[in-house]
Parts: sequence; structure tokens; C-alpha cells
Amino acid sequence: MTRHNDFFYITTPIYYVNAAPHIGHAHTTVVADVQSRFQRFLGKDVFFLTGTDEHGDKIVQAAKAKDVSPRQYVDEISALFRQILPQLNIHPSRFIRTTENDHIATVQHILSDVYAKGDIVFKEYEGLYCFGCERFYIERELVNGLCPDHCTEPVKMKEANYFFRMSRYQDWLIDHIQRNPDFITPERYRNEALAFLKEPLEDLCISRPKTRLDWGITLPFDEKFVTYVWFDALINYLTGIGYPDSPDFAKYWSSAEHVIAKDILKPHAIYWPTMLKAIGLEAYKKLHVHGYWQVKEQKMSKSLGNVITPSKLVDTLGVDQTRYCLMREMTFGLDASFSIESFATRINADLANDLGNLASRTITMLSKYLNGVVPSDLKGTEMEAELKNQCVAIFDPWKNEMSGFEYHKALQRIWELINHANKVIDRRAPWELARHPEKTDELKALMYHLLETIRIATALVWPVMPDSSEKIFRMLGLVPEPLLNFEANNRWNVLVPGTVLDKPSPVFPRLDIEGVVKGFGDVPDAIRKCEIPAAKAKTDTKQQVNAEKKGEPAKPMEEAQNLIAIEQFAEVELKVAKIIHAEKVAKADKLLKLTVTAPEERTIVSGIAEHFEPETLIGKKVVIVANLKPAKLRGIVSEGMLLAAKDEKGLHLVTFEGDGPEPGSKVK
Ligand code: ME8
Repeated sequence: MTRHNDFFYITTPIYYVNAAPHIGHAHTTVVADVQSRFQRFLGKDVFFLTGTDEHGDKIVQAAKAKDVSPRQYVDEISALFRQILPQLNIHPSRFIRTTENDHIATVQHILSDVYAKGDIVFKEYEGLYCFGCERFYIERELVNGLCPDHCTEPVKMKEANYFFRMSRYQDWLIDHIQRNPDFITPERYRNEALAFLKEPLEDLCISRPKTRLDWGITLPFDEKFVTYVWFDALINYLTGIGYPDSPDFAKYWSSAEHVIAKDILKPHAIYWPTMLKAIGLEAYKKLHVHGYWQVKEQKMSKSLGNVITPSKLVDTLGVDQTRYCLMREMTFGLDASFSIESFATRINADLANDLGNLASRTITMLSKYLNGVVPSDLKGTEMEAELKNQCVAIFDPWKNEMSGFEYHKALQRIWELINHANKVIDRRAPWELARHPEKTDELKALMYHLLETIRIATALVWPVMPDSSEKIFRMLGLVPEPLLNFEANNRWNVLVPGTVLDKPSPVFPRLDIEGVVKGFGDVPDAIRKCEIPAAKAKTDTKQQVNAEKKGEPAKPMEEAQNLIAIEQFAEVELKVAKIIHAEKVAKADKLLKLTVTAPEERTIVSGIAEHFEPETLIGKKVVIVANLKPAKLRGIVSEGMLLAAKDEKGLHLVTFEGDGPEPGSKVK
């Protein structure tokens, strides 16, 4: 299929309806809305999909806790997700729900198709099952033998289920990611996906017996099972545009770009492309992965309860201000820390002072000194020429940054222009020029350059702050519709000389930061999920489970064998270290020489060369024994040791999910 450059398809994750939305969900949906507006600004025909994910055990549990039926529960919570859209001026083309009939039909159609092709097989599986997560775990995913989410020991369970033969497409997927550097961005997540793929993929269990869970889509080839929620959920991206028959599907699919946060990288980077391959469709075009909004270094999350509702933020700050702060305060791909004070400070600095003030003082001066009449484009001094140069040079890089989801950079670039214009005002002092009639042309040239700069900054800010942008556009005597688009603005000299502008009205009121912070209150603390240290929990629970199995009380800890005192353990200093360089040691097949920061730089010689290519280790955060006596290996002094575990699949370094802690952090 050829790619149609005139179409653009953008999606958000569909959110679980197990609790009300918070600003993390709002963030992703604003990101997608900004992209959809930006693409429309470029003149594309855009389809923007968001919605809710309504099947699975999580939902059943949440409904039970509220003592209502799953159906009633999903209707209520899905409505809450839908409500935040107008509050944030977000306008999707469709809000999809996985309980809708067309979605159920699409999932069943795809299941039948993939089953008929032989990519779904029935087999018995024995593994470690966490009832809380409603999924099987493999050993290496557990933390000290416990489910990382529920801190409970998974139960060994044997169950017959249907499996998607994902492993068949592993080589294809590796090749696809390698050939398409923009398939997953930013690059760190592409690397993470490639790292997942270093291990052999297991087949994906895609069914749940109805005896255990019946809130799901029935398998078309076996009534006794429902579809695993992820297999169902990912297909929403196809249902949303009418797969297989709708003309929308033919129009939009080849331009599909998904936005997610890093928590759901694996299903999107691994399961989804292999599913598409099995269905016989081309892969989506791009996956864009952002980081987390955090509170006190913890992910803001429904299950931890440390959340802020989008409506509270909008009520406190305003719609465009909220959109701006969300996009400006997070570097796409990295985590960001939420603070109402930094948001309010950002609004006063960037919006009230820089952009708002530039627009209002320029238009006020125009009224005062030139009767509000837009002058003609006279050549000014060197200073005006520089401003104009910056204006005409901004379009291409802005466009690249916006299409690459680097909104923070694009906004920074616009603000450089705004700040430059404010400096030009201070230096050229129009109030001085106005006092000298012989300098009227100079004044006119200056005012025209300032107005044009405001026009360009305002147009480029539109995808992020549409209402404010339209307001300023009107203040410049321009009509947003049809003029607020790339084509109409991608040049100098758009304002019409002779137009009379009204006195400006304020666009961004200044906030009383102290009042805002006080009124907003604190973000609720995260509910601690594991009250006991994981290592202790494992021993305790294991003893308990074994004892209970035998029908006897658990033995006291100190009676058990091979135990060490906590003081002995405390003697070992474990630290987080980041690998910044890795190379093979000459004439030593097993050794790698690593340079790590912890945070001070040190060299570690490690016997892992047979298991890892040096370049794949760069950037990894590992755990080292930091107080080991230095030892000389092949003439190199090694100052520490890496922790790793070995099983029949090979060697696994002890690392961290996501960004991990700062180098030098103690591991206890
Ligand atoms: O995972 N910071 O749904 P979900 C930034 N139903 N974004 C955040 C965030 C935070 N602290 N917390 C949540 C699911 N998000 C599945 C998805 S898709 C086929 C199925 C956002 O309700 C972010 O986009 O847990 C994250 O990926 C998503 O919400 C997870 O939403």
C-alpha cells in the first residue's frame, strides 16, 4: 500500500475504566490533540482516536468494589474520561469503547482470521499466575519472587488456553525496527524494544477461561473462553477507523501514529506489530513514547491514588494555560515532576509576561502612537532586519520539531522569538521615536515588524493554545478561519496595512502564585503498596505458604537454615551504576572492561563478554558491589562487581525498568 501524504491518523491509548482519569491521561490526550491540530494546520485530513478499554479482570474487581455490575461501572467511568475532552478543548474524531458492537465484531473477525491461518494454537501452560494482575509471570519479571504490583507470591497454575504464535514474527520485527529508525521514538524506547527482542519471545496467551473471567469478548472458535484484554484492546486502533471495509480504513491506516507512555511500551512495540503482521496488515507508521508525570518521584497513578484530576487543574489555571504547561514542562520521553507552583510560575513568566505582554503593549502603542492603523512594511534598522530573519527561519525547524513530538523544543523556539521581540522594543524604545515626528517611518517600520512577529508566534502556538491564539489573531485584525494555517502564515508580510486595530484585551491574566498554591492544596500521598520490604516478604510468605500447605504453623525465621543477620548484609555496599563505556579485553574471551558512573567514574572488569555485545550495555543502569577490594584482571584494576543472575536462557544483569534511579543510589 502506498503512503498517502494527505492523511494522518493519530491515537491515544484507550484508558482502563478502573478509576477516574488524572492528568497523566489528560497529558497523552493533549499530546495527541496538539498533533492532530498541527497536522490539520499543515492541511492534512486527520483522524484522531481516543477512548476507553473496558474488559478484563481489573474492571470486574473495580465494579465489585463499588457493588455495581461491570456494565453499569464501565458506563459511568467511561463517561468521566469523555468529559475531560471538552474541558481541555480536545476534539477527537471518535471516542471508542471496547464494549461497542463494532469493536466486538472486529475482534472476533480478526481472531477467526488469525486462527484460520494457524497463528493461534491451544495448549496447556504451567506458570506463575498473579490473580491481582490476571496474568502469568515469568521468574525474571518477579521482584524477590513476588508480583511487583501486588507484592504477593504468584501461584503455580496449570491452565489450557489459546496462544498467539508471536514468536514466529520475532525476526521480522527486529528487522523492521532496525530498518525504520523512526518506528519507535524517542530512541531510548526503540533500544528498549530491541533489548526485549534479544530474549526469545514467548507465545502470547490470548484467552481466559470463562470459569475465571466472563467479562470479555467470547472467542469465536471456543465459547468457553473470552479474549485476553490486551489482544482485544490493541485492535481498537483498527475498529476506530472501520477495519476492514470502511473507506476510512483505506484512507488512514498507512499514516497511523500511536502515542503512549512508557508503561505500555511492550504491548505496543512487540505484541501489536506482530499481531498486525499475522493479520496481514502493514505495521503502524510510528510509536511515540513519553515519560510519566510524577509526584514526589513516584508515578502518578490510579492505583497509587496520588492523582490530580484534569478539571481541578483547568479550573485553577485555565484551559490553554494547562495545555501549555503540560506540553512545556515535560520533555517528551522523559519523566517530569508535577508541581502546581512551577506551572503557575511558568504561566506568569511565559504567558502573562512574555507573550501576553508583547501583544498587549505592541497593540496599545499602535493605538497610542499610530491611531491603531497597521503601517506598511517599511525597511527598518539592523535590529528589525534581525527579527525578520528569525521569523522567516522559524517555520522549518518548528515543523520538524512538532512532527517529531518535540513540542517542548518547538515552544522554546517560539519563545526565543517572543523574547527577541520584547528586547527589540526595549532597545528601540518606540515611546522615544513617537516623540520625534521625523522618526515616524522608523516607528512604523518597528511596529510592523513587531506585529508580524506576534502574528507568526501566535500562529505557531495555535496547536497548543488554540483559543488564546485565535483571540490574539483577531486582535491583529485577522480572521482565524480561514487564515490560521501553515500555508497562510509561512511567510513575511501577511498583515494588511491600513487595518485599524482595537485596543487589546488581556489574554493571560497574571496568577497570584501563593494564592494558587494554597488553594490547590497538596497532591495526595501515594498509597504504599508493599508495606514490608520485598526481600523479607518473600521469605516470610514462602515460609507461610509452605507451612500452610503442610497444615502446620510457619517456623520462626531464626530457626531456618543459612540465614544471615541484617548487619552482615549491611556490610555489602550495593549501588546503582550507569555503564558509559564498554569494550572487550584483548585476548580474554570472557572479559569486558566497563566504565561506569556511581556517580564517580570507576572501572569494572566483568566476565560477561560471552553474553553481551559491549555496545548494547551503554546507558544501562546496573547494580554493583561498590565496596569490593580492587582486583587486577589482565593488568586492569577492577573496582567492583556487577550483579547478574544465570539460568538456562543465559545471563541476566540486574537492571531497572524505565529510567531507573540516579547513579550512586544505594540498593538496599
Ligand atoms: O494501560 N504520566 O490503560 P491505563 C503520564 N488500557 N501518562 C500517564 C500517567 C502518568 N503518570 N499515568 C497514565 C492502559 N498515563 C491500557 C491501554 S491501549 C490499546 C490499552 C497515560 O488507563 C499514559 O498514556 O493504565 C499511559 O500509557 C496510559 O495513561 C495508561 O492508561
